[in-house]
Amino acid sequence: MNYQLSTINNALVSPTISTNLQLDKPLQLGVMASGSGTNFESIANAIAKKELNAQVKVLIYNNPNAKVKSRAEKWQIPAILIDHRDYKKREALDRQIVNTFKEYGVEWVIMAGWMRIVTQVLLDGFPDRVINIHPSILPSFKGIRAIEQALAAGVKITGCTVHKVSLAVDSGEIIMQAAVPILPNDTPDTLHARVQVQEHLILPQAIALAAQM
Ligand code: GAR
Repeated sequence: MNYQLSTINNALVSPTISTNLQLDKPLQLGVMASGSGTNFESIANAIAKKELNAQVKVLIYNNPNAKVKSRAEKWQIPAILIDHRDYKKREALDRQIVNTFKEYGVEWVIMAGWMRIVTQVLLDGFPDRVINIHPSILPSFKGIRAIEQALAAGVKITGCTVHKVSLAVDSGEIIMQAAVPILPNDTPDTLHARVQVQEHLILPQAIALAAQM
């Protein structure tokens, strides 16, 4: 494994890994997403291209109109709506999520644009195996609107982080990060688009890396 910094598409990425690592058997993934699902798609693509030895067993999404649903259908991956509005407590929502993932044989949980705070119920269901992607170089700009936070702070570099999930929001062990320069005329949309290019590169790699940690 190569732990050097490297550049991919002009972004500084750390650490990098050479190939699909030596995963003995495919990782059994469950993905959680709330919106567009481009990160979900990056995982499906990496698997199809044999860059990630894994299977997405099921997608859980929480917004009925989320575009990620049609992406899952395209890949013939089961998509289950678990709408947070149907649950009074976060723990009850997470219990349903854990039960659904267990039914589908999920072993690793990937939060790919999941816009809800998770509880110990989810973490206990998959100890040390819940992974999140966040659009900043953590520990900077935790929480919502991380892209806007970076622009407002006037920093010149931001990026994205893949990390293990802990109870404190956006605070678990960092697996992989990529840096993205902020350009003078960037808007939230233009900056987010460049950050997403890097997200799509590092998320599949970080999943493989997490399985080796
Ligand atoms: C991604 O940029 C991800 O980093 C962010 O939501 C976007 C989802 O995009 N996640 C968070 O902000 C979590 N706090 P996608 O639906 O196209 O994958």
